[in-house]
Amino acid sequence: MVDQFLSAGWHVLATTRHAEADGFDRSNVRLQILSCNVAESAGRETIVQYVAEHWSEGVDCLINNAGYGQAGPLEALTEEQIRQQFEVNFFAPVLLTRDLLLYLRKVQGKIINISSVLGFVGMPMQSMYAASKFALEGLTESLYYELSAHGIKVCLIEPGGFRTQFADNMVWPSDEKQTSPLYQQQMSGYRNCLERVRAKPGKNPDEVARIVVSLANRNSMPLRVRIGDDTRVLYYLRRTLPQQVADRVLRRISGKILESK
Ligand SMILES: NC(=O)c1ccc[n+]([C@@H]2O[C@H](COP(=O)([O-])OP(=O)(O)OC[C@H]3O[C@@H](n4cnc5c(N)ncnc54)[C@H](OP(=O)(O)O)[C@@H]3O)[C@@H](O)[C@H]2O)c1
Repeated sequence: MVDQFLSAGWHVLATTRHAEADGFDRSNVRLQILSCNVAESAGRETIVQYVAEHWSEGVDCLINNAGYGQAGPLEALTEEQIRQQFEVNFFAPVLLTRDLLLYLRKVQGKIINISSVLGFVGMPMQSMYAASKFALEGLTESLYYELSAHGIKVCLIEPGGFRTQFADNMVWPSDEKQTSPLYQQQMSGYRNCLERVRAKPGKNPDEVARIVVSLANRNSMPLRVRIGDDTRVLYYLRRTLPQQVADRVLRRISGKILESK
């Protein structure tokens, strides 16, 4: 996404926890990379400090993209895993947005929050990830109205599955053997399902980046943008079909995922 923004002529401030190995061209004067963890207050402070020192005239667009998936049944997750999922996927965007609003207001900028298909559909083995993205959706939808009179546009991106490092970076329960045999069987089904998906050619995330850049360049943005057929089908199921029908279909899909061989 950073490359697409640079190609479109933007000045970019990007963050990563691995600045030494990100592969970006440090000689580009329109790119600044900060090595920080957005889930820590010191990391967010580094960003806000940079903006105050270098971009005090205003920020045109904030993209809250950092996120990861916590997999596993709720009963097998530690309190730390549960809280960390929300620290990265929810509290980091909340607090970064709050602290950068001063600069976004100055130029009537944009906020683009990267949610997920699991921001409007719950799935087994993904309860904490879905909960964190549902929370992000509630925040973003509220800000869409709250910030409208300030001229700040707000958008949720709801991608389906795209081939990134997401599956590799997924966090699993630390001690799966402690869970019941049924949970172990379900986790194994869920893993098989992920493996099956990974064995197929994945969708290129450049499509998401291209859409995000084009939204950032527009005067107006819709509240929600779904990217991918999978997310559009599930949205149709969840929001258009009668609730009982949708629940039945989604339960069947969930069952098939957990029983994957
Ligand atoms: N891939 C999909 O199928 C998919 C579908 C729907 C939604 N999404 C969402 O898309 C977003 C991007 O994920 P991705 O698919 O690109 O996965 P990814 O390849 O695993 O990348 C995750 C990104 O989040 C950053 N990140 C994670 N924790 C961080 C932290 N504590 N502080 C700073 N940065 C952190 C990582 O930065 P560093 O590792 O460089 O620090 C990396 O840039 C996430 O919000 C994810 O929930 C992905």
